[in-house]
Amino acid sequence: PAGKVVVVGSLNADLTVRTERFPSPGETLNGSELVIVPGGKSANQAAAAAILGADVRLFGAVGADGNGDLLLDAASSAGVDASRVLRRTGTATGTAMIVVDAAGENTIIVSPGANGTVTGAELPADLFDGAAVLTLSLEVPLEAVTAAARAGHDAGAQVLLNLSPYRDVPAELLGLTDVLLLNAHEAALVTGLADPAADWEAVLAALDALGVRRTIITLGGDGAVVLDGTAAGDARVVRVEPTKVTAVDTTGCGDAFTAATAARLAAGESLAEAARFAARAGALAATREGAQSSYPVLRDLLD
Ligand code: RIB
Ligand code: NA
Repeated sequence: PAGKVVVVGSLNADLTVRTERFPSPGETLNGSELVIVPGGKSANQAAAAAILGADVRLFGAVGADGNGDLLLDAASSAGVDASRVLRRTGTATGTAMIVVDAAGENTIIVSPGANGTVTGAELPADLFDGAAVLTLSLEVPLEAVTAAARAGHDAGAQVLLNLSPYRDVPAELLGLTDVLLLNAHEAALVTGLADPAADWEAVLAALDALGVRRTIITLGGDGAVVLDGTAAGDARVVRVEPTKVTAVDTTGCGDAFTAATAARLAAGESLAEAARFAARAGALAATREGAQSSYPVLRDLLD
């Protein structure tokens, strides 16, 4: 049987408005009706992995407010074990202010709220029992992310790190990472290479120098590339073809990709196989509005 997927990180209420185009600085635009839907990179990853059949445990923090209820209910409905998520008093549940334009692109500003209070000392002792894979992103404090990576690694889980939203991370965290998940922009920032797509072997070498052996780089409409420094010969750079879809809302596509990778690695697939499946998951998530609200479409992948 597949091992568990443990997800440590953020839960946000996504306050989303659609507009024809993004406003310029100082400009006011009218938008659609406001919708408040469950989001947050880690809550999204947990929900998507559970919908894809993984046995998922989520850890993070929400406030003692209505948005907190929304997020815990959404996690449970998706089949996620969210029983260890902390409820803070005196701090609001994290929120994300999201604007989606007519092309389905988004801008997001996150107000961390309770996510910003998560500490490594609070990781539950049994969090990693049975864990095959741990997925991490960067919407909770780096101290907590690094402590989770350490504990997950010690428990024998493969550590997946999604370097989003991008910031510089301690060398220890990269060293504990088994699979790094990046978009092209993040790949440029972490390697210092201006155009990663120009030379994947150079990206692989730069990541290897940071102690990262295996990376998946998502390329939006161009699919993805798997860089595997532990493989021999041509298998070191594997192209994943894109799945063509009409994008309605790309919010949560990266999280669906990460989740699908985690679910497939937990089920024992190779990194390249997992990435091929994940590319389809990420593309499908773009065909529906919202992050978690788009994930029921992922069931199509299981037929
Ligand atoms: O990756 C998408 C997510 O980023 C949104 O759900 C929002 O909450 C932000 O965390
Ligand atoms: Na979506």
